Amino acid sequence: MDRVSQIMSAEPFGGLPAELYDPIAYTMRLGGKRIRPALLLAANGLFGGQEEAAYGAAIGIEVFHNFTLLHDDLMDRSPLRRGEPTVYVKWDENTAVLSGDTMYALAWRHFLRQPSPHLHEILQCFNETAIEVCEGQQKDMNFERRTLQEVSLADYMDMIRQKTAVLLAGALKIGALYAGAPQEEVEKLYAFGLHLGLAFQLQDDLLDGYGDTAVFGKKTGQDIRDNKKTFLPLLAEQKASEPQAMELRSLFASKANMDEEEKVRRVMALYDAIGLKAHVEESIAKEFGAAREMLDSIAAEEPAKLPLRELMALLMDRKK
Ligand code: IPE
Ligand code: IPE
Ligand code: MG
Ligand code: MG
Ligand code: MG
Repeated sequence: MDRVSQIMSAEPFGGLPAELYDPIAYTMRLGGKRIRPALLLAANGLFGGQEEAAYGAAIGIEVFHNFTLLHDDLMDRSPLRRGEPTVYVKWDENTAVLSGDTMYALAWRHFLRQPSPHLHEILQCFNETAIEVCEGQQKDMNFERRTLQEVSLADYMDMIRQKTAVLLAGALKIGALYAGAPQEEVEKLYAFGLHLGLAFQLQDDLLDGYGDTAVFGKKTGQDIRDNKKTFLPLLAEQKASEPQAMELRSLFASKANMDEEEKVRRVMALYDAIGLKAHVEESIAKEFGAAREMLDSIAAEEPAKLPLRELMALLMDRKK
C-alpha cells in the first residue's frame, strides 16, 4: 500500500474558500488504510494494466469513500475518526454536509481526468455503486428504529453488502476494467470483492465492540449507543438463552431510557456471557474463506494474484 500512500500524499486537496476545502484536506491527510485504491490498483495489475492509467480512479474512489465518512459520522454522531475529531465536531454539521457533497463531485473529477476506452463502463460502475452505498446507508438508519426481532440476519447481510461491500467490489471491478480484463473474470473479481467487503464490515462491527479506541481510531461502543442492528446484537440474540435474549432486546429497544455508558457496559457483559466474540470471528473467517475460493477461481497467473492475496492477509488481522 506504500504506492497508494505516495499517490495520495502527492495530491493537493486544499483550495478556496478555505471553509469548504480545509475539512476536505484535513480528512484526506488523516490517512486511513487506503484499502479501496489499493484493491483497484491490484486488480488493474492482475490483468496486466498500466498502473498510471488507473491513478485518477484510485484517487477518485478514495475521495468518494472519504465523502461517505463525513456524512456517516454526522448520521452516526461519531466523535472520532482516525484518532481525531470528526468533521462535524471540529467544524459543524453544515460543513460536514457541503464539504462532503464537494468530495463526491471531486471524486468524479478524478475519474474523468484520465481517458480509457472503457470509461463509460467504469463510470457506470462507479455511479451504480454510489447509489447502492446510499441505499445501504438508509437501511442502516432504518434499522436503528426497528427492534432486534424486526431485523433478520439476511436483512443485515443485504444492508452491509450495499453500504460497504459493493464499494470494495466496485474498486476491484474498475481496476480490472482499466486493464481490459475479460467480462467473466471481472465478474469473479467482483464476487471476490463482495465476500471481502462483507468480512470487512463484520470486522468493523466486531471492532466497534472489542477494538481498542487508541488503535481503531473510532470511539468504541458507538453502535450500541446508536441502537445499530449490527451483526453483534443480531447474532447474540440467536446464541443467547431466553432471559439473555430478552435483556438484549430491551437494551436495544429504545435510545434514551438509560445512561449510555451503562447501556454499553450491560450489552458488552451480555456479549461476553454468550461468548459472542468467537462466534463472530468464525463468521468472519467463513467470509474470508469464500473470498479466497473466488480469488483462486480467477484465470490469472499466480504471481499476479500475490498483491491481492497480501491485501487480504493484511485485512484478515486488522486491528483498525
Ligand atoms: C470505514 O472504512 C467504513 C467502513 C466501511 C467500515 P475503513 O475502515 O476503510 O476506513 P479508513 O479509510 O481506513 O479510515
Ligand atoms: C459505514 O458503516 C459505511 C459507510 C460509511 C458507507 P459504519 O457506520 O459502521 O462505519 P464506521 O464504523 O463509522 O467507520
Ligand atoms: Mg459510522
Ligand atoms: Mg454508519
Ligand atoms: Mg462501524
